[in-house]
Amino acid sequence: MEKVELYRQLGEQARGLLGGERDPIANAANFSALMWEMLPDINWAGFYFRKGRWLVLGPFQGKPACSRLQVGHGVCGTAVAKSQTLVVPDVHKFDGHVACDEASNSELVVPLVRFGMIIGVIDIDSPKFDRFDQQDAKGIEELAELLVLRSDEVP
Ligand code: SME
Repeated sequence: MEKVELYRQLGEQARGLLGGERDPIANAANFSALMWEMLPDINWAGFYFRKGRWLVLGPFQGKPACSRLQVGHGVCGTAVAKSQTLVVPDVHKFDGHVACDEASNSELVVPLVRFGMIIGVIDIDSPKFDRFDQQDAKGIEELAELLVLRSDEVP
């Protein structure tokens, strides 16, 4: 399936899933399951939520992962510190990459922004090198925005 069509379908399903529910954990859990079902060639998809200088593991699909990451370190922590989406074609070449699953070779991290503050990230890992491109970045950024808009604050 073309990525444009894939992200259109993901958006449609996400809007359906999030309709009528504002609990952030319930929505993040369902959204993780949706990414896991619909995105090809991934081995981990989920959330980290910001608690001060830490990113604490939220709902996800895939192998058990590091429960706490430091802002400013690794791919997730760097995306938060730089306030930007990171597309990493080869995680082994990313200084400080935190390997939660040895199978991961590329990664996409998208910040979750509420009122200009980063409240967490969506993290997606792939066993394929160079799995993610700008279309994936844009697709997940739009979904991240939708998710924040449709959910209450994380407790
Ligand atoms: N690789 C991430 C850690 C989280 S796991 O991929 C689920 C990082 O370097 O921040």
